[in-house]
Amino acid sequence: LPSKPEEIESAARQAFDPELFRLEGHALVDRMADYLGRATRREPMPVLPWKDPAEMAQSWPPVGDGASSFPDLFARFLTEANHLHHPRYIGHQVPPPLPMAALCDLLASFTNNGMAVYEMGPSGTAMERRIIEWMAARLGFPSDADGVLTSGGSVANLTALLAARNAFAERLNGKRPAFIVSEHAHYSVTRSLKMLGFAADQIERAPVDECFRMRADTLEASVRNAEARGCTVIGISANACTTPTGVYDPLDAIGAFCAKHGLWFHVDGAHGASACLSSKYRGLLKGIERADSVVWDVHKMMLMPALVSAIVYRNGEHSYLPFSDRATYLLDKEAREEWYNLAHRTLECTKRSISLKVYAALQVYGEKFFGDYVESRYDLAGKFAQMVRKAPRFELAAEPEANIVCFRYKPGGAESLDALQLKIRSRLIESGAFYIVQTGLPAGRFLRVTITNPLTDENDLAQLLEEVRSIGESILRERRETVSAGGS
Ligand SMILES: Cc1ncc(COP(=O)(O)O)c(C=O)c1O
Repeated sequence: LPSKPEEIESAARQAFDPELFRLEGHALVDRMADYLGRATRREPMPVLPWKDPAEMAQSWPPVGDGASSFPDLFARFLTEANHLHHPRYIGHQVPPPLPMAALCDLLASFTNNGMAVYEMGPSGTAMERRIIEWMAARLGFPSDADGVLTSGGSVANLTALLAARNAFAERLNGKRPAFIVSEHAHYSVTRSLKMLGFAADQIERAPVDECFRMRADTLEASVRNAEARGCTVIGISANACTTPTGVYDPLDAIGAFCAKHGLWFHVDGAHGASACLSSKYRGLLKGIERADSVVWDVHKMMLMPALVSAIVYRNGEHSYLPFSDRATYLLDKEAREEWYNLAHRTLECTKRSISLKVYAALQVYGEKFFGDYVESRYDLAGKFAQMVRKAPRFELAAEPEANIVCFRYKPGGAESLDALQLKIRSRLIESGAFYIVQTGLPAGRFLRVTITNPLTDENDLAQLLEEVRSIGESILRERRETVSAGGS
């Protein structure tokens, strides 16, 4: 039966009822605080309450009947989540977000002030300008640098590479553009180039050294390779740091090469640009100040909830290169006249209000908090690498420079090392004791950890090695038993 107008109004009034909101909001914050306490005290709880994907999909009822309650849904969602606030979450490069930043997101969602045009998000736009200004200064850029916040590093890479391509559009004289990227570039870099129309032969893979850093001494050869295929190299994308093993490309040398040859120098600093906040690790970024564009994920090493990333251009004028659209209903003037309408610089038309949490965290906790955080996580990764090196039957893939460490369990004489690592990881995460990931390197499969939780300590990491060893031994025992049972 169709609803009567008074029923429709009454339902809307209930959904927007301030007292109900107060009640459920307080209860939710209480629930989250209790959960945070349990996780940070390492009370018994699985880091990831593992469930088979199909079983999980089946277990959630179809939507639309309006029969559930918010508290029930919240409780279930929290219980079944991957518990990033647990110090034994050491998996992907996703931090446990600062609880207060999550509250900022609540306020940002509640006010829903988009940031594509100034009028829809006036204070959010002002905060974003301050954040970009601050980042530019930390990267060593001149005062006319500029940029924009985006929803994630992938969108940021796409936008920056579009700027690079457009910068060269009129200089190509019919030649096909090519870009040099490291063999260890994040897939969003190559994916972006493909989206921008670069064919496989327009993406020149620069070799890496034994530590997986881009080799600056091979760049001349890369340019010649591309030219031999009728392409003109327009830029180089370097990593600060790489995703698989967390090493920093030699930015200074690559930047000098770009300057000498008039190429666009892009630095994908999604993970590691935050190192500029630490006096101890800032040196890893030497040369970043030469970059034309830098991508910096605030939702990685600045403890922010996803998504918030930045593209910072050394020459602020370049922030207008990617897009030049006009739309009478939104963007009615020339971009520079409307510098405050961020849609001129971003793909996103509805741009989520993402500056509040970053601005608030910097204003309340201060910049040093973040520098100390980065430093302590990078230091701990170095200590973990030492522990791995000393542990019998373990192998370190590469000396870590950031907070990413790859290692494997390598008992003498064991066959199928790759399968062994994958099995160890499955059993470990299904046990709920830790959440870690894995990666493929030239030598094979390695277990991979990223230490983002500020409360993870050496004891957690010693325990991780113990668990890996113990699971590895059980798997090998089972293998031997199966072989001997088969042979008898
Ligand atoms: C080096 C690098 N670049 C880009 C990205 C993509 O960023 P996002 O996940 O924010 O899209 C990642 C993500 O892990 C990364 O490690």
